Amino acid sequence: KKLLAWQKTGFHFQPKKNWMNDPNGPVFYKGWYHFFYQYNPYGAVWGNIAWGHAVSRDLIHWRHLPMAMVPDDWYDINGVWTGSATILEDGRLVMLYTGSTNESVQVQNLAYPADPLDPLLVDWVKYPGNPVLVPPPGIGSKDFRDPTTAWLTPQGKWRFIIGSKLNKTGISLVYDTKDFKTYELLNGLLHSVPGTGMWECVDIFPVSKIVENGLDTGENGPGVKHVVKTSLDDDRNDYYALGTYDGETGKWIPDDPINDVGIGLRYDYGIFYASKTFYDQEKKRRVLWGWIKETDSENADIQKGWASVQAIPRTILFDKKTGTNILQWPVEEVERLRMSKKVFDKVEAKPGSIVPLHVGFATSQLDIVAEFEVDKVALESINDTDHTTYSCPTSHGAAQRGALGPFGLLVHTDNHQTEQTPVYFYISKDTEGNFKTFFCADHSRSSEAIDVDKAIYGSTVPVLEGEKLSMRILVDHSIIESFAQGGRTCITSRIYPMRAVYENAGIFLFNNATDATITASLHIWQMSSAYAHS
Ligand code: FRU
Repeated sequence: KKLLAWQKTGFHFQPKKNWMNDPNGPVFYKGWYHFFYQYNPYGAVWGNIAWGHAVSRDLIHWRHLPMAMVPDDWYDINGVWTGSATILEDGRLVMLYTGSTNESVQVQNLAYPADPLDPLLVDWVKYPGNPVLVPPPGIGSKDFRDPTTAWLTPQGKWRFIIGSKLNKTGISLVYDTKDFKTYELLNGLLHSVPGTGMWECVDIFPVSKIVENGLDTGENGPGVKHVVKTSLDDDRNDYYALGTYDGETGKWIPDDPINDVGIGLRYDYGIFYASKTFYDQEKKRRVLWGWIKETDSENADIQKGWASVQAIPRTILFDKKTGTNILQWPVEEVERLRMSKKVFDKVEAKPGSIVPLHVGFATSQLDIVAEFEVDKVALESINDTDHTTYSCPTSHGAAQRGALGPFGLLVHTDNHQTEQTPVYFYISKDTEGNFKTFFCADHSRSSEAIDVDKAIYGSTVPVLEGEKLSMRILVDHSIIESFAQGGRTCITSRIYPMRAVYENAGIFLFNNATDATITASLHIWQMSSAYAHS
């Protein structure tokens, strides 16, 4: 009982109980952030999907509201599925969402606030003419879902995309509309990638190559790149790529067509799915929401009475330094939860050592910022270490020793390190002296429980000349969100410790490299809870 209670988060978004999946229709409206989500009001497993609803002033403290929409019409009786918000030119709001009909056909429906003057948008009206869109000829009746936010084209029409598939090719269809009631399917697809299967929860948005703020969905021009993202039904991960969007042809061309035909990067190398961005016109930023499922058993979820959390919303920027990826960073408001702070300056960890970090406060809710310096002599003298062979998921995790790694932090770790979750860097080097750095999280020893996921996650992270290695980790009970090099590579973990909980959990610095000594400097804050009012 006490173990299950521990798993509930202190500052991540969760409904009070039951099942949650995708984020839906995030938007800033009349002073409030609105968040809707796929919700089962009757249990901790997927089904009976309705739209849960909550509001916030700061994206961190949430007030739960009554469900916005429930499956009560023939065109969504099998589920009020994922959708997105669009703010019209006159400030009114419309929602487009997928309904699963009485015959389980996927159709698109229109809904709007009953009272646009109510800043909390408590009551919603479904358009009497629903459905407004049905699967077009050639598209499977169960392969047509999750419309994006619409943007205004230079021709004065609203445009949005919907994911689908043709045989095993994942595709996104493009639609234009003037009134959200009648629609025109454009010739040609926005993008398609053979072999990727059904594209769920597609997204497209601009990022600036020049300015430090986010862009509204319709913006384009020479200083703009476009991110296209899809959630792959087959492997349950969110993939993206950077490219150029041509408003005339409605086509998007990936920058790097070689790499997995242009959809090869991941938002997150851990658990992160069905994500969606919105433009926050209040703070001029683009914000990403992502659904974080459980990695324990369905039985455990039923016992605890809930399943899933949402990641802390992330601000998205184009990484001007690399030019090849986006940066994701927890919204700045989360820093308001920081309480006591402990600073560690230049702590040394010799090869093969573990150093306890005594913080003097509870460690279930933390914000950690850490910088690492690697012994220069070792960096220079080592030749050819694992350069062609290493990868986080196929390695033996933090136990696999190389000359220049792994080193990093152990979170949610008991005094004997029986249960530990290492988040770490691993540096490889080839004979020419080129380095490749990996960022990984090892769950093989996170829990003594047997029915939980124990995989090792992670990928490479770009590290530029002269940069220090840095990581930020948000720890919140059963979720850990880890960001390397300012958010170039992210890993979200779910963990279910049996021992390393409450006062038995601590943090350690570890260095399992065989050659390099590591020096770490850290700021560790205890995080307050963000209470949800009802
Ligand atoms: C993604 C998804 C969407 C669908 C919704 C149903 O997780 O399968 O494609 O609209 O969830 O809950």
